[in-house]
Amino acid sequence: MKISGTGSVLPKKVVTNEMLSRFLDTSDEWITTRTGVRTRHVISDEKLDEMAVEAAQKALDDAGMNPEDLDFIICSNVVNEYVTPQLSCIIQGGIGAACPCIDINCACAGFIYALEIAESFYKAGKVKNVLVVCAEEPTRMTDWTDRRTCVLFGDGAAAVVLTPGDNIRSIKLSASSSTDKLWQYRILQPTPYITKEEQDVPLQMKGQDVFKFAVKAAGRDISRTLKDAGISPDDVDHYLLHQANIRIVNAIRDYMEQPESKFHSNIEDHGNSSSSSCPILLDECNRKGLFKKGDMVAMSAFGAGFVSGAVLFEW
Ligand code: COA
Repeated sequence: MKISGTGSVLPKKVVTNEMLSRFLDTSDEWITTRTGVRTRHVISDEKLDEMAVEAAQKALDDAGMNPEDLDFIICSNVVNEYVTPQLSCIIQGGIGAACPCIDINCACAGFIYALEIAESFYKAGKVKNVLVVCAEEPTRMTDWTDRRTCVLFGDGAAAVVLTPGDNIRSIKLSASSSTDKLWQYRILQPTPYITKEEQDVPLQMKGQDVFKFAVKAAGRDISRTLKDAGISPDDVDHYLLHQANIRIVNAIRDYMEQPESKFHSNIEDHGNSSSSSCPILLDECNRKGLFKKGDMVAMSAFGAGFVSGAVLFEW
């Protein structure tokens, strides 16, 4: 397939490190040097499903496509206000499409997993035009008294329209179960029969373990896509990595031995917006006109599970 349109939407509320330091034992200096984040967009009166619809509409407009021409909608999401129906069904109605749709929860790697599903459906001859939407509000998962987690995240939605083409050169996915490094529990409705002990626990993270996994997984995943496509790191024009921590991005860059100019980043303004992170960055680069036709783009992401993946595509 090929990416024919992109769109993204951010909540209007901007929270600075200084604002966080008013109620947390933290500082702009600590957050900036340890993570690279200075500000993040945080949901206040917005609804995530409405942001997702708007991002999808922008991607359709960018692609010049009518919603009725879509054959499939894939939405990547970890949490939102609905348990059911799935967010992709809400997006389908919001944009006026009529195709089947599916939600996936592959944490921060959801965009890469969604691309692989779209590409596989396309290769199987089942679809021609696919809308992928990532919509995430990780700021609703964290404990805002926990300085170790809440400073890292921001919210947002982003979408791409995929159409027939051979621009996606390789996608590699991986998963390695490690459920005690990054997780959250929620309590479901009680029943008269529940006897087990249940807890409502906000997002928990072993930051250094996640850091090590991220660098190793991204280096491996990107290398596998390059090998698959028969090209070298030097042949890649743009690296778009999951915006979780600028130190993780820099470590991956060192591993790839590539110049800083190829690594685009928006973590300073956005923080980690989970699976929306990569497509928001993609949309911003697209709208800034940073990509030329024929440019080779490598993208990678990792997240809770652990899951990870990389994609290599020609613009
Ligand atoms: N402000 C000030 N101090 C903080 C802080 C904050 N916001 N958060 C943590 N600290 C403190 C810790 O309490 C610890 O203090 P101590 O030594 O007195 O116990 C100290 O800073 C160092 O903590 P540590 O966890 O070792 O820091 P770190 O350099 O590993 O950075 C992360 C922490 C979370 C920024 C880093 O590990 C990371 O980015 N990991 C990956 C997270 C990620 O990507 N998650 C999403 C995956 S999709």
